[in-house]
Amino acid sequence: MTMTDFSTIPVITIDGPTASGKGTIAHRVAQALGWSVLDSGALYRLTALAVLDQGIDPADEQAVARAAGHLDVRFNGEQVWLAGRDVAPLIREERVGNLASQIAAYGSVRQALLTRQQAFRQPPGLVADGRDMGTVVFPDAVLKIFLVADVAARAERRCKQLKGKGFSANLANLMQDMRARDERDRNRANAPLKAAPDAKTIDSSDLSIDETVKAVLDHWSSLGTQA
Ligand code: DC
Repeated sequence: MTMTDFSTIPVITIDGPTASGKGTIAHRVAQALGWSVLDSGALYRLTALAVLDQGIDPADEQAVARAAGHLDVRFNGEQVWLAGRDVAPLIREERVGNLASQIAAYGSVRQALLTRQQAFRQPPGLVADGRDMGTVVFPDAVLKIFLVADVAARAERRCKQLKGKGFSANLANLMQDMRARDERDRNRANAPLKAAPDAKTIDSSDLSIDETVKAVLDHWSSLGTQA
């Protein structure tokens, strides 16, 4: 039996602020390459949901980190199972996202989720989206994308997305929440949201999904690497 050298499995990281379209783009790029995908934000959202469900005090870092370390989670296509129930729609709620951003500032929570994220690196390749994929979790990624879009474009996208899923949404409130979340994600001491020095920045404010996917795949092709 041959051992897999995980460092040889290619990873493309897509980091960026909330609602920059990372998730959609990561899925589409993974589909085009036949690779798997890691939605790292889902792990922070799942931790936040576990905190809410178990009545844990969000200010108690050690208790939150314990919950992160004990997440009983399974991803199956679009479904996300937490302790035996599909919570995919629930973790997209803004209250869960806002709490996720708060608890993501804890170093011990990030540490508890680190190896779980790295375990997604499986052949033939992985597209990982989040905030620190290129800087902390997969620093040796073959291609690092930093996906940005202005806050108005992102709030509009999130508003449409929420309404499409039957949630109520208010553009002004979303924009305010988004600014607060960006601020927190960028300025925290542990693994803040920032472009890796070797990342390629793509501004998707005026790009369609197809154009953004193409921009990522063009960067990949220009590397001349075959997975
Ligand atoms: O990408 P998202 O909106 O689903 O992420 C939810 C929160 O989780 C986000 O506000 C910050 C945090 N997060 C993080 O700190 N690091 C990651 N790699 C992914 C998400």
